[in-house]
Amino acid sequence: MEILYPVGDAATGARIDRAGYERLYAEAARDPEGYWRDEARRTLEWITPFTQVKDTSFDAADFRISWFADGELNVAANCLDRHLATRGDQVAIIWEGDEPGETRRVTYRELHAEVCRFANVLKANGVRKGDRVTLYLPMIVEAAVAMLACTRIGAIHSIVFGGFSPDSLANRIQDCDSRLVITADEGCRGGKRIPLKANVDKALAHCPGVERVLVVRRTGADIAMVEGRDVWWHAAVEGVDADCPAEPMNAEDPLFILYTSGSTGKPKGVLHTTGGYLLWSAATFRDVFDYREGEVFWCTADVGWVTGHSYVVYGPLANGATTVMFDGVPNYPDHGRFWETIDRLGVNIFYTAPTAIRALMREGDGWVAKSSRRSLRLLGSVGEPINPEAWDWYHRVVGERRCPIVDTWWQTETGGILIAPLPGATDLKPGSATKPLPGVRPQLVDAEGAVLEGATEGNLVIADSWPGQMRTVWNDHERFFQTYFSTYPGKYFTGDGCRRDADGYYWITGRVDDVINVSGHRMGTAEVESALVAHPKVAEAAVVGMPHEVKGQGIYAYVTLNAGEAPSDELRAELRSWVRSEIGPIASPDALQFAPGLPKTRSGKIMRRILRKIAEGDVSNLGDTSTLADPGVVEQLVAGRV
Ligand code: WTA
Repeated sequence: MEILYPVGDAATGARIDRAGYERLYAEAARDPEGYWRDEARRTLEWITPFTQVKDTSFDAADFRISWFADGELNVAANCLDRHLATRGDQVAIIWEGDEPGETRRVTYRELHAEVCRFANVLKANGVRKGDRVTLYLPMIVEAAVAMLACTRIGAIHSIVFGGFSPDSLANRIQDCDSRLVITADEGCRGGKRIPLKANVDKALAHCPGVERVLVVRRTGADIAMVEGRDVWWHAAVEGVDADCPAEPMNAEDPLFILYTSGSTGKPKGVLHTTGGYLLWSAATFRDVFDYREGEVFWCTADVGWVTGHSYVVYGPLANGATTVMFDGVPNYPDHGRFWETIDRLGVNIFYTAPTAIRALMREGDGWVAKSSRRSLRLLGSVGEPINPEAWDWYHRVVGERRCPIVDTWWQTETGGILIAPLPGATDLKPGSATKPLPGVRPQLVDAEGAVLEGATEGNLVIADSWPGQMRTVWNDHERFFQTYFSTYPGKYFTGDGCRRDADGYYWITGRVDDVINVSGHRMGTAEVESALVAHPKVAEAAVVGMPHEVKGQGIYAYVTLNAGEAPSDELRAELRSWVRSEIGPIASPDALQFAPGLPKTRSGKIMRRILRKIAEGDVSNLGDTSTLADPGVVEQLVAGRV
């Protein structure tokens, strides 16, 4: 389906129109230094103006990524202080709780005061510039306050999504040596309670380095507080001075760590830095959503993921926007929650994931029709490829053909959006993220790294640096280089496959590595495998993605049991809940097949290609199986498909 939706009313008053996009793209390509110098000056407020702009090379010999390296700025000052004179009384955050209408509005002035106060609390608890602070919180205002308070004093935050297990939390705390953890008594999602503090207690049994836990009272549940270690947030901030100077930070000083799954090993601590990241999140928010003064912006992502970092907190606040923080789920109390909330809060721009759109589409148009959605001007999509059917429903039913859809492609590593339409400039094709933003140089390469021209399909790489890109893997710079810059020397490899059509539009086809995208959440197959083999009855496991109607991809696990163990439905259920408790509910396999053996080459390598085909149900075309050590295994697997 390649239906073109030409830019319509969205062009009226848009900051960037068709000619503007062409001009900016050409300008950024011709003179990156000049382009980014101007962008960084007009988008951010600097304490010490930079004189250097771009100092980057993706080549092994002189590998380096550095932007605005001699400039100084502060993220909290950019997101708060600079707005006080002009919009101190404007609402910065509208918090919407799990229960409809459970709302809280916080102005820029109030948020500034809360952030300063909490920054002083962090200092009083011994947190210094460069220290790591772990956040394990629901989607509450305190999460944004804690993030911004860290940036105010130069501490590095590491947010762990509240759906991760105590083990996953412990690993992330240990990896970056956090001495302070911020959590809540419980979270609330879809009417259910999440035992956040109890999870922290379990995690900290393995983290002797943690000296202090600050606990937000969210539900008022009766929880255990450890004497000398745990302190209530509300008690800690009481009477604390709301005056806290913003620490001048070097543009290349670390801003935050966010753990994300890769194709091998344990999750990587993606590190973003102060100047480049803030510039990228701020400029892309402004341009891709064509944000207009006074509008209400709602990104439904959790701050535990990068989308929440860039488009719930930093991008909107750097622009002085009003951002919605949603602590609920799309189907609670019913399937009309998004649309009812849009009406009630007067949301103008709505940004969500295809998985949510597909899930709601299945419930029929009636839920949408109950709302007016008159306030909506623009819709956005992120996290996974959006299938044209879902795109069409989003456009026709939700947006009543009035609202353009910006399908935004990016990654935790990229800091913000790289490929997306600009509403006033780009004609839309359902299912395509369309064109690169100015300053972004995508290329498609074949398996050998040869650059492919014109209409073609290949592996997506980015040929040159952009300010928002990650700078390293925490504690493992070598892994950073190996993961992203060694496959295709001199280029950043995204891990995604992609098609480019004759109009130069990009169509992301999905991951080409062993990462799967479940409901827009990234999961490394290796992580799920190692959780499975940690079970005493499991000898071996292989995990692949399978198509899933709502989630995009589901998790398909092949499990070989230890000798003497018998497959059973009970054991299958036990293994699924085992993975939930090892990693978190998002990692629980959708299908689990007991396999007497796995297809391996004679050198012992598991042939995942075959496992993927069986999981997809595409068993008529398994390709060459002659190199397998035991070709008979394949027949058994096909017969035992679940
Ligand atoms: C996928 C989320 C198609 C892609 C922001 C990427 C997409 C991975 C899109 C990153 C999109 C994200 N169309 N695929 N619009 N957006 N992806 O790090 O495979 O959680 O590599 O960042 O999601 O996931 P991550």
